[in-house]
Amino acid sequence: MVVRAGAYDDELVKTAKTIASPGRGILAMDESNATCGKRLDSIGLENTEANRQAFRTLLVSVPGLGNHISGAILFEETLYQSTVDGKKIVDILVEQGIVPGIKVDKGLVPLTGSNDESWCQGLDGLASREAAWGLARYAAISQDNGLVPIVEPEILLDGEHGIERTFEVAQKVWAETFYQMAQNNVMFEGILLKPSMVTPGAECKDRATPEQVADYTLKLLSRRVPPAVPGIMFLSGGQSEVEATLNLNAMNQGPNPWHVSFSYARALQNTCLKTWGGRPENVKAAQEALLLRAKANSLAQLGKYTS
Ligand code: 13P
Repeated sequence: MVVRAGAYDDELVKTAKTIASPGRGILAMDESNATCGKRLDSIGLENTEANRQAFRTLLVSVPGLGNHISGAILFEETLYQSTVDGKKIVDILVEQGIVPGIKVDKGLVPLTGSNDESWCQGLDGLASREAAWGLARYAAISQDNGLVPIVEPEILLDGEHGIERTFEVAQKVWAETFYQMAQNNVMFEGILLKPSMVTPGAECKDRATPEQVADYTLKLLSRRVPPAVPGIMFLSGGQSEVEATLNLNAMNQGPNPWHVSFSYARALQNTCLKTWGGRPENVKAAQEALLLRAKANSLAQLGKYTS
């Protein structure tokens, strides 16, 4: 039996509720240096600290961002990073009313003996354990240290499989994740879930409408996620910006027991990044592009987005 200290319970619940507040979601900007390098490469920029700093400065200093964004997930480098004007990035987020978070894992490694699954490094002695158990230990350790864990059982979009197959796999993965969290005495009121939506594989010929994605995903949530969990913050997983907004909007057409929202990286940042292109004269237009996506997803969280 795992016993939790519980010293931070009130704070955890408060933080999780603040992040899961109406009309707001998470800006995922926790790209590792390697992933950030790929994004910068797509606009012809070198992966230098100065370029990473310039892009992150642009993201966090969008005026009014906090009206739509409640939390930001940072990579370790950003936790200590300053903006180009020398202000701490974390301080800017707090001034914007955005809760800063930190990616605590040490990257993905292949899971031995699995069907091409990966799991996160960062917990010692876990080589022979399952990914779900690792997620649960991460959640328990975070809570014991006063951090709200964002639990991310991601099922990749890659493949030709249909939506039914994604649903089937997700049911298994989520069942195991919640079972292991219960075993590890994780307080469900003090976590946020960051899953992928139930969609067909990226190469599947049968595309799904936002209503179909919403039906499958909400069915999965109702079967697997206790209402005690305050927020479901979906990742975008390679969906287009508009697709990610429409799918979220479709899920918020009726009342849900949880705050159903977003924790998008690519679906918030793609146009912003392209518009910027590494040029100082484009910063304002790029910030407007981010704000446009943030506003659209904010409306989608309320079920009020119209394209
Ligand atoms: P995407 O929204 O680009 O899938 O990224 C989310 C994420 O996992 C980053 O933390």
